[in-house]
Amino acid sequence: MNDYFSTFVAGFEKTVEKRLPIDLFDVKIAGVMEGLVVYETSLHAQRVGGLRYLNNSFFLLRTYEHSSLEEAALFMLKDNILKTQIINKIKRVGKSFRIIFSNENKIVSFDNKTTEIEKMLINAVRVDKANPDTELWFIKRREGAVYLGLRITRPGSSDKHLQKGQLRHQIAHLLCLLSEPSKDDIVLDPFAGYGAIVLEMVLCFPYKKVMAGEKDKQVFRLLQEKLKSKKNVVVGRWDATNLSSLTNGSVSKIVTDPPWGIYSNKEDVGEVFYQRVLEEFSRIMIRGGLAVILTGQKSALEKVLNNIDKFILLEKCDVLVSGKKAGVYKLKKL
Ligand SMILES: C[S@@+](CC[C@H](N)C(=O)[O-])C[C@H]1O[C@@H](n2cnc3c(N)ncnc32)[C@H](O)[C@@H]1O
Repeated sequence: MNDYFSTFVAGFEKTVEKRLPIDLFDVKIAGVMEGLVVYETSLHAQRVGGLRYLNNSFFLLRTYEHSSLEEAALFMLKDNILKTQIINKIKRVGKSFRIIFSNENKIVSFDNKTTEIEKMLINAVRVDKANPDTELWFIKRREGAVYLGLRITRPGSSDKHLQKGQLRHQIAHLLCLLSEPSKDDIVLDPFAGYGAIVLEMVLCFPYKKVMAGEKDKQVFRLLQEKLKSKKNVVVGRWDATNLSSLTNGSVSKIVTDPPWGIYSNKEDVGEVFYQRVLEEFSRIMIRGGLAVILTGQKSALEKVLNNIDKFILLEKCDVLVSGKKAGVYKLKKL
């Protein structure tokens, strides 16, 4: 068995805890904290690193309970067994590394400790601060412990190619998971934007048909282009508050991320908007269908939900998306 820890979008703790045993059959979860899961499995690191709902995954090398980052670095520097372990693990992942210190999700610098640790390892493995194969992370958590891990997911930001407002595939994957995908699903994302959710659905999950729509002409064209070769995928240009091209009871799952009202001041995304959107969702969905909605407008959606008797709220999680507070709502059509 190998020890690992992985980070994920904070707020999805229950989803990750439920899903991990399905993907890693022998997993033993040691703890789930906000945005972090610690576990062991005999499965290969490549398999762990390939789980698309996890942000970053690491070999867990040590846990230093109730320690500061500096204390953890000192413990590490004195530990010769650990030194050999780290060198062997770096060689499993690649040839070069760099050291990162993180304090409650913020990268901090400890130049003197970084230099000492680099010196300790330099004879066996190469330091590359710009483009390393892996990273040695000291992660100090709010709960008190420092986790020392070697990164198995490749360094380098996956956000580089994202368009404004486009979701990272990790959160799109978690939203799809919440919708309990099945091979008979007729899935709809009526606010598809650049298509992160539909692309993830098509790439990773079973479905019968996927429909994606978008109001903005330019964004719609890009979406159409991206989805043109995908099987059983239909793209529409529409206003999602009036989905007259879709018949009553024709959709089993909706997974969507409506506008947040931050990129365009023309967007009115308050209660009137959500009232219309939920009325339309209710009309086009089958009984028992599931809608998973990610929104930055929690109070508007919640007010409408309180006054509408067509859905029940199955699950709600508060999440942080690109540093912004948002909510994920899983609704069942009655
Ligand atoms: C938050 S973005 C979705 C981003 C998408 N999840 C992605 O990853 O690319 C919301 C999208 O809804 C579109 N939109 C805004 N109002 C709309 C409406 N009434 N009907 C359909 N689309 C709308 C916006 O143009 C924007 O592309």
